[in-house]
Amino acid sequence: MGPRRSAASSCGRLLLPLLLLGFSGFFQSYAVEVDIKDASNATCLYADWMMRFLIKYESNSGDYKTTTLNLSSSVTHNGSVCGNDTQAALVAVQFGEGHSWSINITKNNETYQGDFITLTYNTNDTAVFPDAKRKGPITVLVRDPSRPIQLNTVFVCHNSFVIEAENTTQIFWNVTMQAFVQNGTVSKKESRCPADTPTSEPTVPPTIANVTTASTTTLSPAPTTAPKPVENPVTGNYSLKSGNKTCFLATVGLQLNVSQEKPLLININPKTTVADGACGNTTATLKLNDGNSTLIGFTFAVKNTSASVQKFYLREVNVTLLNRLNGSVISSADNSNLSKWDAFLGSSYMCRKEQTLQINENVQVHTFNLWIQPFLVEANKFATAEECIADSDLNFLIPIAVGVALGFLIILVFISYIIGRRKSRTGYQSV
Ligand SMILES: *[C@@H]1O[C@H](CO)[C@@H](O)[C@H](O)[C@H]1NC(C)=O
Ligand SMILES: *[C@@H]1O[C@H](CO)[C@@H](O)[C@H](O)[C@H]1NC(C)=O
Ligand SMILES: *[C@@H]1O[C@H](CO)[C@@H](O)[C@H](O)[C@H]1NC(C)=O
Ligand SMILES: *[C@@H]1O[C@H](CO)[C@@H](O)[C@H](O)[C@H]1NC(C)=O
Ligand SMILES: *[C@@H]1O[C@H](CO)[C@@H](O)[C@H](O)[C@H]1NC(C)=O
Ligand SMILES: *[C@@H]1O[C@H](CO)[C@@H](O)[C@H](O)[C@H]1NC(C)=O
Ligand SMILES: *[C@@H]1O[C@H](CO)[C@@H](O)[C@H](O)[C@H]1NC(C)=O
Ligand SMILES: *[C@@H]1O[C@H](CO)[C@@H](O)[C@H](O)[C@H]1NC(C)=O
Ligand SMILES: *[C@@H]1O[C@H](CO)[C@@H](O)[C@H](O)[C@H]1NC(C)=O
Ligand SMILES: *[C@@H]1O[C@H](CO)[C@@H](O)[C@H](O)[C@H]1NC(C)=O
Ligand SMILES: *[C@@H]1O[C@H](CO)[C@@H](O)[C@H](O)[C@H]1NC(C)=O
Ligand SMILES: *[C@@H]1O[C@H](CO)[C@@H](O)[C@H](O)[C@H]1NC(C)=O
Repeated sequence: MGPRRSAASSCGRLLLPLLLLGFSGFFQSYAVEVDIKDASNATCLYADWMMRFLIKYESNSGDYKTTTLNLSSSVTHNGSVCGNDTQAALVAVQFGEGHSWSINITKNNETYQGDFITLTYNTNDTAVFPDAKRKGPITVLVRDPSRPIQLNTVFVCHNSFVIEAENTTQIFWNVTMQAFVQNGTVSKKESRCPADTPTSEPTVPPTIANVTTASTTTLSPAPTTAPKPVENPVTGNYSLKSGNKTCFLATVGLQLNVSQEKPLLININPKTTVADGACGNTTATLKLNDGNSTLIGFTFAVKNTSASVQKFYLREVNVTLLNRLNGSVISSADNSNLSKWDAFLGSSYMCRKEQTLQINENVQVHTFNLWIQPFLVEANKFATAEECIADSDLNFLIPIAVGVALGFLIILVFISYIIGRRKSRTGYQSV
């Protein structure tokens, strides 16, 4: 008898309302637990997790609003199936006023892996989408970017991680999940997500502690430079494709400065960072998700400097930081009014020295070893680079120029002093 699925589960375990940091106020978080049994009443698929969605939608007045869609207390899991060698496993949940979420999971000899994640949100739900212009269900489909998981191990991720797709940010945390469970017992062997695995590099907190104590004890006059972790961020290589052609190239080391109360520096780890986005003829966007609750988006645009000369420039940067433990938004910053990093269309822009982008009063992005080309990438290679002023040799001339100017000034002052003395002397003589 083939594995028939009879579902038995407890859904919507109510957890204590968690205090949300930042601007979002209070919310209630619910955990979902799905335990699918096969024909012999043995567990074949188990999942217990928490999730939340940030969704951008258009309001009647034509502007875009971002709302938070949380799970409600009553969640059903109709349609969830165990799966086998030929059929994908499916975890499907329905909640609230016509919202649903699902993931199908496939396996091979050694591993299992999410294939597609489907989120359907219903903008007809006026409590979540007040004033929505378009009413009705909207479905977004996104390929699961997570790595394959060893068969007969349970995937565990306590820290939050994020998947972005078409106007939605899907946040997951406190996840325990195993598909293709054998012998009805969820494995004791865990596969941990990258965000849960501490990096071997020296961690940021001790440095911050040291710097903080130093600055409070020595009371130095308003520090002009933020305290830094000892190391600069590792430089990462990111690219976007259109069809099978590379259309966006970026090499950059990224560091965030999130100074809500005290400066906090976060280095983006290229090893865990996934690039996504869209190329275009006049705008291009690179979205980076560090797999550790940090999202950064860069939008470039093309401008005409004269009738025939076109340049590209960095127009917008947005940064979203999530609480690693409960997926709440700590900070969401956007500056869509930038005019940085410009270079002629068809070339690339390079700036090896540290650059600072001010996103809002609390958030800065520092870039290192930057080399970027958002448009007209040919043959997977950077075109000729235009270098920033900070990099160029002209920089060495600035102190010299200042020195020369100062010298002239001193000579000028001296001459006028001599002339002044002479005049006053002649003045005395004439008396
Ligand atoms: C499965 O277990 C439940 C209770 O645990 C029981 O009510 C049900 O009859 C069992 N079904 C089969 C097919 O054994
Ligand atoms: C897999 O599951 C499907 C549907 O439950 C079933 O039709 C099929 O025979 C199964 N295949 C194997 C190899 O067990
Ligand atoms: C599955 O296992 C067979 C033999 O055990 C091997 O030939 C095949 O390459 C494996 N497939 C994958 C995707 O690992
Ligand atoms: C998973 O679901 C997506 C969307 O419904 C579908 O396109 C894809 O074929 C499914 N994958 C498998 C292996 O069934
Ligand atoms: C939206 O809800 C209203 C009532 O609240 C209903 O009349 C309408 O048919 C719904 N529209 C859609 C697309 O579900
Ligand atoms: C997503 O947002 C863009 C504008 O940023 C809008 O043009 C598009 O229609 C939206 N898509 C959906 C599915 O809401
Ligand atoms: C994570 O889940 C466990 C039990 O599954 C629960 O005790 C804990 O409070 C949850 N943590 C958060 C941050 O929700
Ligand atoms: C499941 O049971 C079979 C036989 O009882 C055993 O050989 C196998 O190792 C078990 N698998 C796991 C993952 O415990
Ligand atoms: C996640 O971020 C924290 C804080 O920035 C850091 O300590 C940790 O090493 C990061 N984890 C990974 C896998 O990068
Ligand atoms: C930070 O403080 C610890 C002990 O308090 C010390 O061992 C370490 O060298 C300090 N690091 C720096 C960068 O000053
Ligand atoms: C992908 O690239 C190959 C050459 O490398 C080309 O022949 C093929 O048509 C391309 N496919 C698409 C979908 O662009
Ligand atoms: C973008 O540019 C290409 C080549 O110049 C052209 O074929 C295409 O139609 C343009 N697309 C749009 C949306 O303007």
